[in-house]
Amino acid sequence: MCGIIGYCGHRPAVPVIVEGLKRLEYRGYDSAGVAFLQGKDLITVRAEGKLVNLETKLAAQNVYLATSGVGHTRWATHGLPIEKNAHPHCDASRSIALVHNGIIENYQDLKKELAAAGVRFASETDTEVLAQLVGHYYKEKGSLAEAISKALSRVEGAYAIVVVSRDNPGMLYAARKQSPLVMGVGVGENFLASDIPAFLPYTREVVFLDDGEMARIDAGSWQVLDVATLAPVKKEVQHISWDVSAAQKGGFKHFMLKEIFEQPRVIADCLAGRVQRGSERVALPELEAMDAPERLFIVACGTSYHAGLWGMYLMEQWAGIPTRVEIASELRYREPVLGPGDTVLAISQSGETADTLAGMHLAKARGARVIGLCNVVGSSVAREADVVVHTQAGPEISVASTKAMCSQLTLLTLMAMVFGQKKGVLPADVAAHCVPALEGLPALLDGILPALRERAKELCRVYSEARSFLFLGRGLCYPLALEGALKLKEISYIHAEGYAAGEMKHGPIALIDPKFPTFALAPHDGLYPKVKSNLQEVQARGGKIIALTQPGADLDVDHPWEIPAAWGPLSTFLMLPALQLFAYEMADYLGKDVDQPRNLAKSVTVE
Ligand code: F6R
Repeated sequence: MCGIIGYCGHRPAVPVIVEGLKRLEYRGYDSAGVAFLQGKDLITVRAEGKLVNLETKLAAQNVYLATSGVGHTRWATHGLPIEKNAHPHCDASRSIALVHNGIIENYQDLKKELAAAGVRFASETDTEVLAQLVGHYYKEKGSLAEAISKALSRVEGAYAIVVVSRDNPGMLYAARKQSPLVMGVGVGENFLASDIPAFLPYTREVVFLDDGEMARIDAGSWQVLDVATLAPVKKEVQHISWDVSAAQKGGFKHFMLKEIFEQPRVIADCLAGRVQRGSERVALPELEAMDAPERLFIVACGTSYHAGLWGMYLMEQWAGIPTRVEIASELRYREPVLGPGDTVLAISQSGETADTLAGMHLAKARGARVIGLCNVVGSSVAREADVVVHTQAGPEISVASTKAMCSQLTLLTLMAMVFGQKKGVLPADVAAHCVPALEGLPALLDGILPALRERAKELCRVYSEARSFLFLGRGLCYPLALEGALKLKEISYIHAEGYAAGEMKHGPIALIDPKFPTFALAPHDGLYPKVKSNLQEVQARGGKIIALTQPGADLDVDHPWEIPAAWGPLSTFLMLPALQLFAYEMADYLGKDVDQPRNLAKSVTVE
C-alpha cells in the first residue's frame, strides 16, 4: 500500500510533494522518492527508509525551479525495501518516470518480453516493468496518452499510476484500476494522489477517479479520459469537509473500522497473481521449489496464533499434513520434538514479535526449515525465514489486528491448496470450487459489511452492560471464537473467553446465568447440530445468546444474526468481520480508545 502524489501548479513542486508524502506517512513506507524536470532533464531522487533521508538528499539539489512533479512512499510488495527498488522508476531512455501503487500480476511475463527486445532492468520491481512498457510504447506511438493506454491494456492486476515525462513539461498523466486515486482541483494548481490528505491544505475540491479512467492535469486544467478509448469522461467535482486526521482514516471514525472495511480489497490483493483466472489452480512461486511438509509446526502469537489454528484444519483436511499449532512464548521454552525434516510456519503481521522470532530461532537451531508468513517486507521474520510468503494486507495501524488476520487466512487457504496439489491429495471438490469461491469473496463481503455493522451496533447496545462474554464455536469456528473473545476484551475491556463449544460442559457452563451472555458461531455446516445442542444447554441455564447463523439454520435464540452462506470454510471470511465489528461497536459505544487500547503495543518486540 504505497502513497502517491503528483503536482502541477504555480508553487515549487518538490516541497509541496514532500509535504504531501508526509501526510501519507500513515499508509506506512520503507522508502520514498520524487521525480521532476530540471531544464530538459528528468531528475529522480530516491532514498531508503524515512522521509527525512529523502529530504536530506533533496537539500543538496536546487529543487525550487520545478513547478510539477511526482512523489511516492513505498510499502514493498515486490523486491526488498532498498533504494534501487524505490519509486519513481524510469524507462531506459529516461523520457518518462512513473510512480505506482498496486500489484502487476503478469510482470514476469512482460519483463521477459521486454528483456528479449533488449530492455535492461535496474530493479526487481513490477513497477519498473510498467515504466519500461510505457516508455517502449511511447517510442513507438509518440503520444504519451496512447502509450499509457496501450501499456495498461497489457497489464493484469491492480494499479494507480502517475507519469511525468521529459517531453510534456508541466503536465502529468494518471490512471487507475482497483487502487485508489483522486484528483485535487485547485486554483492555478492541480493534484493527483492516492489519498485526499496529501493535498488537503491546498484544496478541498476533489474528483474521484474510477477504474478504467485516465486523468491529465496541468496547472490550469484537468481532463478525465477512458483509458481504453481515450474518449473524454464527464466527472463531478466534490467538496470535502473532513479535516486531515479524518481524511487519513478515509472518512471512518477509527483506523480499526477503516481496516475492517478494507478486507474485501485485502482478499483481492492476496489473490492477485496467485490464482490463475479461468483455472482452478493456485500458484505460490515462493513455495515452488519446496516439497510439501511431512509435519508442520505453526508458531505465532495472539491473533496470528488464531489464524494458525484455523490453518491447521485445512492443512490436515486438504493436504494430509500432521500439523501442530504452538503459542510461540510456550514453544520457545519447551523441548519440542522438532528437527531436520520438520517445517515451521511462523505467522506474524509485524514480523517483529519477539516470541515468534525466538520460536523461529529455536526451529532453525534444530535444523527445521522455516517458512515466514508475514505482512511487513524486510521485517525480521521476512529476513530470517528460509522462505517468506507476504500477506499483502498493507500497513495495519490500529493496534487491534483485523485485516492482517483476513490476509493470513487467505494465504493459509492458498498454502493448504498448494501443499495438497503437491502431494496429489487435494480433495476434488476443493480443487473444483475453492478458487472461484475465493474470487467471489471480495464482492460478497463488500456487499454485506454495512449491514454487519448495523447489526453489530444494535446488539452492542443490548449487551453493553455485560461484564463477561463466552464465545463458542466448533471446528473452524473454534479459532474464530478465540478471536472474537480477544477482540472484545482488548478494545472494550469486557472480559471474554473463547471456548470450544463441546468443552463448555466440562467447566464454563457453571458460569452461565441470565447476566452472562454467550456469543455463538453456528454456521449451517456439518457441526451445526452439535453446536445447536450446546446452545440448548446454555438456554436451559437462563443464558442469553447471540448466534451467527446462516440460512437454513433453525436456532431459536435471543439474538440470531444471519449472514449469507459461502462455499465450505470460506464462511469464515464473513463471520470474522461480524466479530470484529461487534467488538468495535461495543468499544466505541463504551467510549474506549479503539485504535490505541490501554496497555497494548502494535508490535510486541520484547518478551
Ligand atoms: C490482537 C493483536 C495481537 C497480535 C500479536 C502478534 O489484536 O494484534 O494479538 O496478533 O501481538 O503480532 P504479530 O502478528 O505482529 O506477530
